[in-house]
Amino acid sequence: MKKILITGGAGYIGSHTIIEMLENTDWEPISADNFSNSSAVTFDRIKEITGKTVINYAVDLCDAKATRQIFEKNPDIAGIIHFAAFKSVPESVEKPLIYYHNNIESLVNVLACAKEFKVPHFIFSSSCSVYGDIEKLPVNESTPLSKAESPYGFTKQIGEEMLNNFAKTCNTIKTVALRYFNPVGAHRSGKIGEVPAQRPNNLVPMITQTAIGKQKEVIVFGDDYTTRDGTCIRDYVHVCDIAQAHISALKYLDADKAAPPFSVLNLGTGNGISVMEMVKTFEKVSGTKLNYRIGPRRPGDVVAIYSDMTLVKKTLGWTPKYNLDEMMSSAWKWEQNLKNS
Ligand code: WQD
Repeated sequence: MKKILITGGAGYIGSHTIIEMLENTDWEPISADNFSNSSAVTFDRIKEITGKTVINYAVDLCDAKATRQIFEKNPDIAGIIHFAAFKSVPESVEKPLIYYHNNIESLVNVLACAKEFKVPHFIFSSSCSVYGDIEKLPVNESTPLSKAESPYGFTKQIGEEMLNNFAKTCNTIKTVALRYFNPVGAHRSGKIGEVPAQRPNNLVPMITQTAIGKQKEVIVFGDDYTTRDGTCIRDYVHVCDIAQAHISALKYLDADKAAPPFSVLNLGTGNGISVMEMVKTFEKVSGTKLNYRIGPRRPGDVVAIYSDMTLVKKTLGWTPKYNLDEMMSSAWKWEQNLKNS
């Protein structure tokens, strides 16, 4: 039985990855999450869905001593998936030092333990935000990175560079950075999903919260971009597809002895979808009219970005299973269940 440490296990993608792991492998996920941007209730929901109890260490990973104690108690950790990080683009613009400290310090501490305790595999939660604003689309893993649009994106660029340097010198570990495009949707049970701590920044929770009555309206941030309908384009991918890719990445590192010390892989569908197309998809799958209006552009937004999936398909054999309707309908089902809970 492989023991896998999931940092940020109570978070959106972390919790979905734990469920995928419990449902599709015989591995034992353990979590490290101090609930700074999530809730312990998530583990009750994981138990409801899978029947299994996940051990969580409510540790601040910026505390090196407390982080090391997790490894002392679990010297048999066979792999790490590092999700734990603050991830709000606008919040990172307002509070850059908090983002630099939290996202970098925690990574340093976990990597130091991975080295000391000779953990062989490490998966890093990265983001398409590392690309910045790119003209030539779709982006692939060789696309040169431009200046990150936010401190959040910059912490992911730094994180990848740290991982690259570290893995080359630490000969007991192999690593993969997974660049998520726009994770959306929720587990098919409707019992777990994205729980934005306060007013959502992201489009899909904003759509579902407006439809359920928690928010007044969706403001479409600009319709004067040089795109097919004037609104920004993104590559939306189901959170359960993202979760599955993490398991495939661990299996790849376990199986492929020729894997390099550090790899980067895009996790997207390869389809660019506009904001207005997302609004129309919601109205179609929910059968409800959405209250939205066109507003000014949002600072920091890139016009368009979507992924080239060639490398991830070749390396992991991974292709996303869920389509846009399923992404949106699962997000809507979760929002409705949240209201009834
Ligand atoms: C999507 C589009 C907005 C809200 C996110 C994460 C980032 C990274 C990449 C993982 C944009 C528009 C939004 C609203 C709108 N993911 N929008 N009205 O900015 O692409 O970044 O995915 O690491 O962490 O933040 O996602 O959902 O905020 O915006 O018009 O009320 O929807 O302008 O074009 P974004 P988003």
